[in-house]
Amino acid sequence: MDTVLSGIRSTGHLHLGNYFGALRNFVNIQDKYNCFFFIADLHSLTTHPKPEDFHASVRIILSEYLAAGLDPEKSAIFVQSSVPEISELYVLLNMLSYKGELERTASFKDKVRKNPENVNAGLLTYPVLMAADILAHRANWVPVGRDQEQHLEIARVLARRFNNFYGADVFPEPQALRFGSDLVKVPGLDGSGKMGKSEGNGIYLYDDEKTIHRKVMKAVTDAGPAVPDSEMPEPVKNIFTLLELVSEPSTVEFFKEKYRNCSIRYGDLKKQLAADICRLTLPIRERIDDIYNNDDYLRQVTRAGTERARASASATLKEVRKAVGFREF
Ligand code: TYM
Repeated sequence: MDTVLSGIRSTGHLHLGNYFGALRNFVNIQDKYNCFFFIADLHSLTTHPKPEDFHASVRIILSEYLAAGLDPEKSAIFVQSSVPEISELYVLLNMLSYKGELERTASFKDKVRKNPENVNAGLLTYPVLMAADILAHRANWVPVGRDQEQHLEIARVLARRFNNFYGADVFPEPQALRFGSDLVKVPGLDGSGKMGKSEGNGIYLYDDEKTIHRKVMKAVTDAGPAVPDSEMPEPVKNIFTLLELVSEPSTVEFFKEKYRNCSIRYGDLKKQLAADICRLTLPIRERIDDIYNNDDYLRQVTRAGTERARASASATLKEVRKAVGFREF
């Protein structure tokens, strides 16, 4: 059975980008694959979170993961830092990763531009740690949004390089698990770019109905009235992209037709979008707090998940250590 691995950084709350990029359909995935879902707490250390906030942010993502439909009976759910084999593999893969190629990564360049005062080595080697996450379980498939495509390519390069360099067939080359023909990029509500935790342009699974309506009604569309035969402006296109994700095809077609014949009212479009987002997220939201407050359940889920993850990762590391040349005296 093929293995699937999916990860989310422990910062903030899950938003629609995370949901559609990494979680959608995972109910089906869990029946078909050997699944590992984890919370990337080590990755979130690149931004130096305060120790007193650190655990709560892991707990939030864990609760939201479970509320969104992750089934601990079927999948292993764990926190990255409780599987030390990942860190060991990260060290070994770092020896095969070159400064030049890491500096060329789009996400690194973006972070350097946005936070020039905190260009730490963890940021540079972020994709190497991500490769270690994936390769530790010899995952075949990784559900990701388009923003992680380049990182996944680095994981493939490192898998290939390790296998070639050590003349061992340890790692498969992980592929993106797509839900459609292309990888998803969920746009933000601010008219351009992707929905993200740091961009402040997102709708969270934790948002209540009022918040969702307020955010959607404020979303940028200000492109003026529709003009016959003109290309749809980006902010409007973004609203349609969101609508396509959450609404029935007939609803999307209804508004597209209105756009084409220039009778569209953006207020109506947004009202529909907000209602359909609520339909999707509110049943998830209802479960979050109960899960968050259930210490026993969270302990049980993470203990079982860690055990499975460590068994899988240590089997890989045994082969890795042998390939590299470690021997006991
Ligand atoms: P993170 O926490 O930023 O996002 C988690 C997942 O959500 C997807 N995503 C999106 N997809 C579409 N549109 C968007 N606007 C959008 N925003 C986020 C991301 O593509 C991702 O799949 N480096 C990763 C965490 C990670 C990981 C891994 C993922 C660490 N190790 C190993 C997969 C495998 C990250 O920061 O994701």
